[in-house]
Amino acid sequence: MNKSTFQFNYEVYQSIDDLNKEDAWLLQHAKDISKTAYAPYSKFFVGAAARLINGEIVKGTNQENASYPVGICAERVLLSAAASMHHSIPIESMAISYRSHTVKSDHPITPCGICRQSLQEYEQRVHSPIRLILGGMDGKVIIIEKASMLLPLSFTSVDLI
Ligand code: THU
Repeated sequence: MNKSTFQFNYEVYQSIDDLNKEDAWLLQHAKDISKTAYAPYSKFFVGAAARLINGEIVKGTNQENASYPVGICAERVLLSAAASMHHSIPIESMAISYRSHTVKSDHPITPCGICRQSLQEYEQRVHSPIRLILGGMDGKVIIIEKASMLLPLSFTSVDLI
């Protein structure tokens, strides 16, 4: 028997003010676009903004439904838009933020499990890591170099061959 370890490093910044100009700009776009989320049920409004490697900006927000499972997270709205409108051009960085009527937006949130799976496959299909910039309206910001770090030992297309 051999034991294996998975670990990864990520960066923690005290606030958006400590980010470089490009990252702060992208996170600000994620914060702003969260206003257009359709989240009448959770009242949790998520915004995602990505910079593609060709410099284009793509955004997404969560879209809920009265039939709750129909709802889709901001990250997957963004990935679908990037794949459909930008020919799956690699995503260099994706910023994610949120606002809420019920909880404070003072810390980063990380993508849910389904989104981690989708992010992993997007990285794999375009052969390029997606850097994540995560922050609330206020507070600390974390940066993760590769989204798939959040889903170790994942099930992937390779398993189907
Ligand atoms: N949500 C996102 O859009 N992204 C996340 O990273 C976490 C959760 C959405 C799903 C649902 O519409 C609401 O936030 C509450 O879970």
